Amino acid sequence: MKTFAQRRGLLITIDGPAGAGKSTTARALASRLGYAYLDTGALYRAVAWVVRRTGIDCADVGAMEALLSSIDVHVSLEEGVTRTFIDNQEITEQLRSPDISRLASTVAALPHVRNRLLPIQARYSREGGIVAEGRDMGTRVFPDADVKFFLEADLETRTTRRYQEAVRAGHAETRRDIRLAIQERDANDRSRATAPLKPAADAVVIDSSSLTVDQVVENMMEWIPGHS
Ligand code: DC
Repeated sequence: MKTFAQRRGLLITIDGPAGAGKSTTARALASRLGYAYLDTGALYRAVAWVVRRTGIDCADVGAMEALLSSIDVHVSLEEGVTRTFIDNQEITEQLRSPDISRLASTVAALPHVRNRLLPIQARYSREGGIVAEGRDMGTRVFPDADVKFFLEADLETRTTRRYQEAVRAGHAETRRDIRLAIQERDANDRSRATAPLKPAADAVVIDSSSLTVDQVVENMMEWIPGHS
């Protein structure tokens, strides 16, 4: 069987907590390499969006399973953007609110949601040439990835980054709200039984607290075969 490297390109994963800089870095790295960028958080956000719209109680396993088997969740990978669809409706612009962020973390802890999204994510890697970003890319979805990164940053840095994003997006959250929401999501994502957030044993761990995006990307390039 051919490895990813022998096909169109490598499979690179970036995992880490909210605000560590995964999306910005993953997009910049993908663009530098001419690769596609896959934001897997968008799939969990899409499930949260449907749960919110239908009013289903996500603790009701039967209702959630029926919902998950009745919808088609997919993304389309375009330069620097992951466009997200439920059936044929594009919902990309509706997934970044604080409410959807919180609910996405809740639905992401449900094993049947994770199991349903697993093959959907795996299918995007077939051709290689992809930078995939999430929480369990290196540990569960792509355990055979060519290069795995785990991006960390301290809580204050992550709070500042998310606060600046919220101000730009016109969301009326205070720094304190954002810090609490990050702490709550981290605790959820790290402590869940199924695919908790943690570095893969073979991941390169990078702390981005005092680094610019360019510095993180330069650091990553040194680990990518044929590109250092
Ligand atoms: O990266 P993000 O903030 O868009 O992710 C939204 C939520 O989905 C987050 O709470 C963690 C969860 N998630 C996950 O559990 N596994 C992934 N591969 C991606 C996201």
